[in-house]
Parts: sequence; structure tokens; C-alpha cells
Amino acid sequence: MNEALSVVYRELVRRHESGERTLFLSLDSMAYLTEQAELAGATGVSARTNAGESVNEPTDRVEKPTRSVGLPVEMGVPAPPKLHLEEGDRLSQLDQLRQIALNDPWCLSQVKKKKKVVFGTGSVEARIFFCGEAPGAEEETEGVPFVGPAGQLLTRIINAMGLSREEVYIANIMTYRPPMESEVGNRAPTEEEMRYCLPYLLAQLELVDPLVVVALGRTAVDGLLGVDRKRKITHFRGNWQRFEKWDLMPTFHPSYLLRNDGLAVKRQVWEDMLAVMERVGMVVSDKQRGFFLK
Ligand code: URA
Ligand code: URA
Repeated sequence: MNEALSVVYRELVRRHESGERTLFLSLDSMAYLTEQAELAGATGVSARTNAGESVNEPTDRVEKPTRSVGLPVEMGVPAPPKLHLEEGDRLSQLDQLRQIALNDPWCLSQVKKKKKVVFGTGSVEARIFFCGEAPGAEEETEGVPFVGPAGQLLTRIINAMGLSREEVYIANIMTYRPPMESEVGNRAPTEEEMRYCLPYLLAQLELVDPLVVVALGRTAVDGLLGVDRKRKITHFRGNWQRFEKWDLMPTFHPSYLLRNDGLAVKRQVWEDMLAVMERVGMVVSDKQRGFFLK
């Protein structure tokens, strides 16, 4: 190993021992390390690293760089948790699950000081279960899903359906905001991060056992149905799917609606919600049927 790599190696060992599991690498640093690794004849450190290729110790693995400039490099997301709930009714089991999720050491290690792990909210009796991507900045501050701008829009959609947030269930694929250097903006969770959090979502789904799951946006669809790079949410939305034992309606994420607020896109999401209302046996008024037609 050459000098530059030894320095990096010692620093990584030190951080790993102090419990750090996520490292932010700029594109420049990545390019520099790649060059050094190539000079040293080492394998594995590459700006084009594919998921699964590993850097030699101490990182467990290096994820394929995702979008955004400060590249998050996952230092080994652990195996997904195995959840065990004590006997009890659904509400008490949901409370137990919430406590386990909020105290999950890995998730806690991923949130910054004063920020929170975010568990689902709503009714254990809900017939409709909305699933988003990951908490954003507002959500991780409050510890409640969908309370920021996209969340306020989701709340208006739920209200337009004649429901309240308390009557439905609202959760995310991720129980924490995927860490990044910057306070602003979000990055999509990696497949490994989603896989880690999935048992929490599945356990919430099992306990609520809704009639319909609404997957909000591409990441929610990927997290639930598995990543399919050929799938286009613009074609996929509005078409009933099956996820385990639940009917699943894929639709656009409310933040997509905030960025594309034309009537046509609003109507598409609204038609998906009308289909959901019908599927759960709600009465749809003529007024509701005509929303966003012009
Ligand atoms: N009605 C409810 O009370 N809850 C739902 O989730 C859907 C319809
Ligand atoms: N976007 C999401 O996907 N989930 C939230 O909770 C907030 C914003």
C-alpha cells in the first residue's frame, strides 16, 4: 500500500472503531483515491465501483455512488433486523414495534444530533396505507412522516378523499433520512438501506393489514416491488399491483406534484385516488369525481 492509501486506511480504521459507519467522499477525493489505488495496483477502489465490489479493509463494502455531489459511501449497512413482538393486541404490538424502531441502533447512528428516527403514523384500523420514500428535513426534526411541503400536499389529498390523517396510515420505506453532508435536499436511499428498513414497514403492514397500499413515487415502488430500472413510474402509476397479500396502487409522489403542478398530472393522481376509494368501498360523490377536470 502506498503512503496516501495507508493514511486513508488508518483514518478509516480510527473512524470505524469509533462507530462511524458512513463516509462522505467528494468526487475529487474519489478520483484521487482511484488514481492512488491504481498506482498501488490495488483493486476495488474505483469511481465506477459497482455495488458489491469491495474496498480492502476496513470498510465492509462500497456502494455504487448514487446521485448528489457529496457521495455517501455506505460502510456496511448491517443485515436487516429480525423483529420479535410480544403477544398482545394490534395496537400494543404497534406500540412495541414503534419503540423498537425508534431505538434501532443502526437507524440512530444514521441521524444527526437532535434529529429523529421516523415511524409511521395513523390508525391501526386504516384501510388505506400510504407509503412514501424517506423522511425529509422537517420529518426528521419532528419525528413524524409527511409533515413538510410534500406532506402538506399529501394531507390535502387525503382530506379531498373525505378522510383525515388519523383515519389512514402513513409510513415510509425508510425510518430515517438517508444521511448526507448537506442540510438541504435529499438523496434516494440505496437498495441496502431500503432492505434494512423493510422489516419495519412489513411489520406495520402486517399489523394494520390495510385493504390497499398506495406507493408514493418511484422509490416506494422500488422498495416494495423490487428495483426495476426499466420500470417507468409515468406508465406504471394507476395500474393495480399485488404486493404480498395487499393490493397496491402506484402513484406519483406528492413532491413530484409540487414540481409539476399542471392540471393533467394532478388529475392522474386524483384518478388513482378515486380507484383506491372505490377499491375500499367508499362512496365517491359527483363533486369528487370531477376534481381537477378543469
Ligand atoms: N376509511 C378509513 O377510515 N380509513 C382508510 O384508511 C380508508 C377509508
Ligand atoms: N417525502 C417522503 O417520501 N416521506 C416523507 O415522510 C416526507 C417526504
